[in-house]
Amino acid sequence: MTAIPEAVRKRATKLRDEIEQANYRYYVLDEPSIPDSEYDRLFRELQSLESEYPGLVSADSPTQRVGVQPVGGFATAEHATPMLSLDNAFSTEEVAEFDRRVRERLSYDGNVTYSAEPKLDGAAISLTYQDGLLVRGATRGDGTVGEEVTHNVRTIRSIPLRLHGRGFPTVLEVRGEVFMPLAGFEELNRKAREAGTKTFVNPRNAAAGSLRQLDPKFTAERPLDFFAYGVAHGDGPSLAPTHHEILDNLTEWGLRACPERRVVTGVDGCVEFYEELGAQRNSLAYDIDGVVYKVDEIDQQEALGYVSRAPRWALAHKYPAQEQVTTVEAIEWQVGRTGAITPVARLTPVFVGGVTVSNATLHNIDDLRRKDVRVGDTVIVRRAGDVIPEVVSVVGERRPAKTKAVRLPRKCPVCRSDVLRVEGEAVARCTGGLVCAAQRKEALRHFASRRAMDIEGLGAKIIDQLVEQDLVATPADIYNLTVEQLAELDRMGEKSAGNLIEALRNSKETTLPKFLYALGIREVGEATASNLARHFASLESIEAASSEELQDAPDVGPVVAEHIRAFFEQRHNQEVIQKLRSAGVHWPDLQKARADQAGPLDGKTFVLTGTLDGMTRSEAKKRIEALGGKVTGSVSKKTDYLVCGRDPGSKLAKAETFRTEILDEPALVTLLNDEAR
Ligand code: IVH
Repeated sequence: MTAIPEAVRKRATKLRDEIEQANYRYYVLDEPSIPDSEYDRLFRELQSLESEYPGLVSADSPTQRVGVQPVGGFATAEHATPMLSLDNAFSTEEVAEFDRRVRERLSYDGNVTYSAEPKLDGAAISLTYQDGLLVRGATRGDGTVGEEVTHNVRTIRSIPLRLHGRGFPTVLEVRGEVFMPLAGFEELNRKAREAGTKTFVNPRNAAAGSLRQLDPKFTAERPLDFFAYGVAHGDGPSLAPTHHEILDNLTEWGLRACPERRVVTGVDGCVEFYEELGAQRNSLAYDIDGVVYKVDEIDQQEALGYVSRAPRWALAHKYPAQEQVTTVEAIEWQVGRTGAITPVARLTPVFVGGVTVSNATLHNIDDLRRKDVRVGDTVIVRRAGDVIPEVVSVVGERRPAKTKAVRLPRKCPVCRSDVLRVEGEAVARCTGGLVCAAQRKEALRHFASRRAMDIEGLGAKIIDQLVEQDLVATPADIYNLTVEQLAELDRMGEKSAGNLIEALRNSKETTLPKFLYALGIREVGEATASNLARHFASLESIEAASSEELQDAPDVGPVVAEHIRAFFEQRHNQEVIQKLRSAGVHWPDLQKARADQAGPLDGKTFVLTGTLDGMTRSEAKKRIEALGGKVTGSVSKKTDYLVCGRDPGSKLAKAETFRTEILDEPALVTLLNDEAR
């Protein structure tokens, strides 16, 4: 055997310690200390040392096990078939290598058929159905023994408590991923930040943590979802001969499998899928960290078998990591449209989520304090989907000596007005209002944006110059600009100046919801603007409405109503609106249009059951009716939609027999928002 150099031995020990520490923080504390990408690097380095010097391998090496022991609090759950992990590939070459090994072992020359599917970033779960009834839910644990979390699993609405249809095995063990959709995750963290409690690092962590709540009541409050990706074993009627058909069967039995899956041929098919899905990655509703290729024929899978921690018939092909470590070079404050000042970390540029990131948000002063981010710190940055990159945590072990905690500035960094923090509010604000150039710029950007007045060509660079040269102070001023003035600006010629004037002219023809949204009233987003427009039908009635009357509109509570009142009470806002109208900004008369046109949900019948989280049932009813829909008390064959909240009643079963379309709360909200547009 090769002698093992001392330096190698030391390095291996160091790697093992770091990996074990990371494992403990990840699995036991649900508080990862380093991102996966870093973990993978350490793990691969250890693996390669161990393969070069087999004498290094010891039974306690982290390479020899899948996860860690369960921590107690839950009953243990044994996995008759171990829950394995997957080998990773980071390049096309590694995929080709995997395919080559598969063909070699199968002594097969042709193209192998693979099932290609997203690699969901959540927590692995095993669900056992006995005679169609969900009897056990278990986490992966160390792969052989996990934790029994049946009570928690039962709170996840996309997991059927009883299988549908027929033909399923007497005992069916389904494997899949519990995950938290991005929208739910963002919302959960937003609420946590508002309440001043701890936020989750990422959706995967939030999913794993939620599954391991000792009280299922807490799990039930978390927006968890589930996709099945395989079957461990089934007794009774035999399963289909290919993986993709098995997944299809699972969906017929009422389980969900990820719709973004496809049967592909050979390496080319795999890589094509990887690229296509990669292009959609940022617009998916959930986090994925790669794709998984699985040999589709079950016979072939069986012939290939397993190595210690992973099947030989499957491979995970990873995307660029959405979390990376980097260092904080500075912490600066940015002033937003409503004066909110947000701490922003300037970072040593790092490639994360497919782009180079050099700034990341820290949300607000409380969040910054809670995470205790300091200049010089090594931090985890996350960039996923369309969400702005954020600093999620500090790698405490790597903090340099002599760092200072960051303080909230007393003066606005842009206009030197006082910074004020209202009791009970998470954000601090510059009090400069439209005196503050930063607020003016943001207000104009918002006004011109696509979903507001949609002024093509009026981008950030131009707005900055217009404000800095005092050509424009309020949105009304932009309609007085001349071609000559615009042509003087940097990066502008006669032609683009002419185009911009034309775009300004076109933008004058708008709609009431867009105009309301463009005004940038605090807390009045697109959905609220639509609701207000629909409910009041004219700007005059909104301006004249009392706080109570405003709250009659769907989605408007006392706080929003107060912001709306405060906005219209300001003389200068009234002046701006007046000037905009005299400049020719106009919209169709809704009162008249309303009489002529039916609502988008006309003729649709809804039934509500269970508790909704984001609105009361009567609010939901109001919103549905505002769009022309009808809400009735019981399900019949005439019901178009059953809106199903938490702890649904017997209406759910009834709706299933009528095959009524079932909407969960997010689906209802999407429908209402889409239709309100
Ligand atoms: S198959 C025996 N398919 O990735 C094969 N796993 O490292 C076992 N995962 O924790 C896994 N999406 O929970 C498979 N479409 C998918 C997956 C998937 C996510 C997770 C799985 C496991 C990890 C494997």
